[in-house]
Amino acid sequence: MEQRLTGKVCIVTGGTRGIGEAIVRAFVAEGAKVFATYNGSVEKANQLVAELGEAHVHFSQLNTSSSESIKAFVDFINAETQRVDVLVNNAGMTKDNLLMRMTEDDWDLVLDTNLKSVFLLSKAFSRPMMSQRKGRIINIGSIVGSTGNAGQANYAASKAGLIGLTKSLAKEFASRNILVNCVSPGYVITDMTEKLTDEQRASFTGNIPLKRGASAEEVAKVCLFFASEDSSYVTGQNIFVDGGLAM
Ligand SMILES: NC(=O)c1ccc[n+]([C@@H]2O[C@H](COP(=O)([O-])OP(=O)(O)OC[C@H]3O[C@@H](n4cnc5c(N)ncnc54)[C@H](O)[C@@H]3O)[C@@H](O)[C@H]2O)c1
Repeated sequence: MEQRLTGKVCIVTGGTRGIGEAIVRAFVAEGAKVFATYNGSVEKANQLVAELGEAHVHFSQLNTSSSESIKAFVDFINAETQRVDVLVNNAGMTKDNLLMRMTEDDWDLVLDTNLKSVFLLSKAFSRPMMSQRKGRIINIGSIVGSTGNAGQANYAASKAGLIGLTKSLAKEFASRNILVNCVSPGYVITDMTEKLTDEQRASFTGNIPLKRGASAEEVAKVCLFFASEDSSYVTGQNIFVDGGLAM
């Protein structure tokens, strides 16, 4: 069977675990060459390279809260490859607190990590896409960017910002055939949601019409759709992958 991303060069931020790891695996399985990033220990990145093969995946260190780290990563990719077909802005973090207890530093850290980085990376990698007159940018949002969530003002604002950024870039880049979409998960079973208490988890799943959280692979499949030719007439969309939670 023909693979959907054969010959495509894809960038995935935060690729060593959770949703990012599932995206890396899904893209490699469809024939892509993936440049992924890790933040922290290199061990898992090395494991994935050993498992998936050096020819298919490369990991670079990247801290998306730092403009300098983003610049170094962009320079590396520009030296390594002439083309970029798909950029998946997946790296993200939470630093939850009620507004009255939220510090300015925690606000800045989450906004820089989750939103400003997407501006910087999209600006850098839309350049080769413009010359190619083809490309895909996929931003990993969250349903709380649309619904809001008590205790997550910084995170929800960063994810709401991603929706506006997605739609603006979709309009700016449409004439160059660069499609920009946002994939917004609800409750996905990953390290990020490990932090929830059993009570919070039960209350979450109880409210989901499908009565369960998503696997990271279920989110990755939607990203694969946006990366592939199957979505050639879809841009500027924010799709919920949430088991019906936010409808
Ligand atoms: N798990 C969920 O229920 C859920 C729901 C909605 C949205 N999301 C979003 O999905 C994306 C992936 O999250 P996940 O669930 O796989 O969580 P996770 O915590 O397992 O993974 C987050 C990834 O982002 C990377 N990251 C965090 N801070 C970084 C930084 N400063 N620089 C570079 N990389 C950094 C981590 O290294 C990791 O690879 C995030 O954008 C998150 O907001 C997750």
